[in-house]
Amino acid sequence: MHGFAYRHGSLHCEDVNLQTLAEEHGTPLYVYSANTIRDHYRRLDQALGSIDHEVAYAVKANSNLSVLRLLAEEDAGFDIVSGGELFRVIKAGGNPAKCTFAGVGKTRAEIEYALKQGIYSFNVESEEELRYLNEVAGDLGVIAPAAVRVNPNVDAKTHKYISTGKSENKFGVDFDLITDVYARAAKELANVKLRGLQMHIGSQLTSIKPFIEAVEKVAPLAIHLKNIHGIEFWSIGGGIGIVYHDSLKSGDPQWWASKSEDERPLTIAEYGEALVPRLQNLGLKILLEPGRYIVGNAGVLLTRCLYEKHGTAKTFKVVDAGMNDLIRPALYEGHHEIEPVKQPGEARRKVDVVGPICESGDFFCQDRELADFQPGEVVALMSAGAYGFVMASNYNSRPLPAEILVDGSAARVIRQRQTLDDIIAGEV
Ligand code: LLP
Repeated sequence: MHGFAYRHGSLHCEDVNLQTLAEEHGTPLYVYSANTIRDHYRRLDQALGSIDHEVAYAVKANSNLSVLRLLAEEDAGFDIVSGGELFRVIKAGGNPAKCTFAGVGKTRAEIEYALKQGIYSFNVESEEELRYLNEVAGDLGVIAPAAVRVNPNVDAKTHKYISTGKSENKFGVDFDLITDVYARAAKELANVKLRGLQMHIGSQLTSIKPFIEAVEKVAPLAIHLKNIHGIEFWSIGGGIGIVYHDSLKSGDPQWWASKSEDERPLTIAEYGEALVPRLQNLGLKILLEPGRYIVGNAGVLLTRCLYEKHGTAKTFKVVDAGMNDLIRPALYEGHHEIEPVKQPGEARRKVDVVGPICESGDFFCQDRELADFQPGEVVALMSAGAYGFVMASNYNSRPLPAEILVDGSAARVIRQRQTLDDIIAGEV
């Protein structure tokens, strides 16, 4: 479900014509739907509504201040992974007391900053980090709230770069070792308060099974830690997958109704129905850390076709966005649907859509049959709201694109396009 659909022959975001936005603000251009973000947040919040819970939005997925503000207004918590993300949350009006701080490599400066801001929990990823947290908290004369991330050794069945819950991944403490880590910490670390337990098995999970497997495996541990150490929360992480294929059609509830469970990702209702009964009697506050689910299908990247190039083997559509603007296809073989903004006719062509960057990996699709579009036309790379702009870079000295937030019929620039001077700012 999302706010992108054709109306009067042109792709719209909510009530705003994307063609108009491309003309007014140029391309490449990220456009987000505020009501989709709100709707996704509320659905998830409601699915867990019968139990004590908090949805802590994973800021890394899309950290624009206006997106964070929108979620702060919904009273969301935030899962952060750096001092920079905490700074953003605070600037956007988010509450540090609702922030959890994840990541395997927190620095002293980041820990001190987060301690001073009074965050809810440091989600630590090793015993070494827990000891360091204790030391820094001791130096400041405060007690650091902490949870340890357990690595449950569950196969999330997702791309290997975004699978995190197996023993060979760098994340968390092995399931078999973690009880002793809590026991030693309780005995030896006077400046740490063991407040919770955390896990996260991977991203873009489209089946409920790995979630169930992980929750069932870890629940007895959570109960044990509550009984022995008095922990109060269990974060079961993020990872809920979204529709990338058929992205445009999935904006329509009918599409969901027409698909069998094997043909579409899990729904939020299914997620809630499967997990709530397994979580409700633990006596723990349940935290979720969704990123992609909240913002992924709430955004598109608009790009203009520059040239159509005919080679002996292929037809290339060269567009003005590159892998520096959206790196998911190059990095994870990520699939993004490509839809012409002007509603297309029946004609379809097998093409590669490529960017201007000097790398063969700079493509948005290869040998894909697409609705035909011509040089000069604008197309939308769908499902680009998560891990899109945040992973963009200045590679090839290309300015970062602008970002727009649409809310009903209003469209606001929430990040100016970078200028060439912005790119060299700070250099000598
Ligand atoms: N919690 C932790 C500890 C995480 O590491 C992540 C994502 C999340 C929550 C949020 O996961 P989500 O609900 O968004 O799946 N750049 C990749 C995804 C990397 C995910 C990293 N961690 C991509 O574009 O697919």
